[in-house]
Amino acid sequence: MTIVMGIETSCDETGVGFVENGKLLGDALSSSMAEHVRFGGVVPEIAARAHVSALVPTVRQALNNADLSLADVGAVAVTAGPGLATALHVGVAAAKAYALALDVPLYAVHHLAGHAAADTLEHGPLPPRCVVLIVSGGHTSLLLVEDLVRIPIVHLSDTLDDAAGEAFDKVARVLGLPYPGGPSIDRAARSGDPAAVAFPRPLTGPGDDALGFSFSGLKTAVARYVERGPAAGVSVEDIAASFQESVADVLTLKALRACRAMEVDTLVIVGGVAANSRIRALAQQRCDEAGVELRVPPMRLCTDNGAMIAAIGDLLVQAGAAPSPERFPATPTIP
Ligand code: KG4
Ligand code: ZN
Repeated sequence: MTIVMGIETSCDETGVGFVENGKLLGDALSSSMAEHVRFGGVVPEIAARAHVSALVPTVRQALNNADLSLADVGAVAVTAGPGLATALHVGVAAAKAYALALDVPLYAVHHLAGHAAADTLEHGPLPPRCVVLIVSGGHTSLLLVEDLVRIPIVHLSDTLDDAAGEAFDKVARVLGLPYPGGPSIDRAARSGDPAAVAFPRPLTGPGDDALGFSFSGLKTAVARYVERGPAAGVSVEDIAASFQESVADVLTLKALRACRAMEVDTLVIVGGVAANSRIRALAQQRCDEAGVELRVPPMRLCTDNGAMIAAIGDLLVQAGAAPSPERFPATPTIP
């Protein structure tokens, strides 16, 4: 058995995790989120500096949590992209140094494959065929997955404009709710009425792209509604709940449409936005109605973390994949 150390530094979270044969042994996370709040979004240079400070202490903390020493590590996996260039470089350089010093193989991994692999830590190996909905700050994609490491993943659809998480973050700003917007809107919506405002359900009309997403029009609809002045008695919480309902409606509708079209009976929802309580609840309700099994990682494994990178590294090791060449670069944009 090989213990894989996973390192994640693609955005504002410094994550380190240890996985062996599909089992999470322990992990640790350090976030620079608080340093970005006053800018209303992640500042790449600040994130990169924070990774430099946090990386070694986070490795140490994760080792402690997993009750391991560095000598136990048999392979290193690191997010090579997509993500913020300066932030990725910190993790990639550190991972190369650890792999060289420990004389173990090194795997450059795709951040989104890591998000999908996070679910296997909780629910075991993925079934032979499933639809994966990835919803994060930078991506909104439907994928047909037969094997996370061996068979090419079939890309079913993407967003034409904003990612779902981006829409949450921008709408939160419009509503005067703190960054990051997803958790703020989720919290505010709990005391709001999701039927208060009938926001559009983008790309759900007849003749529209059956599986594609678009959230920029919805974001603009919320901004216009706020500019015009909400109707009497409509609160910020009501607007947050109504916006969230629209996103949850569209995401779950399209994800189940993809399951039907691909004749797949398992839906996996991953990425930061999968932490949203309404999306989780509506997805469960609609999957139950459709006879589809829903798999969503626990909340703490939905947002960026090191455990998910160790998880995809572990799958690569188990599949006998060749390690990455020593000179592999960080790749801020990869398909
Ligand atoms: O996967 P992630 O941690 O980082 C990226 O790879 O992008 O996703 C971050 C995104 C942010 O846009 C954040 O607002 C959103 O996930 N998010 C949520 C929730 N928690 C995080 N969106 C909706 N509801 C949440 N509870
Ligand atoms: Zn992510």
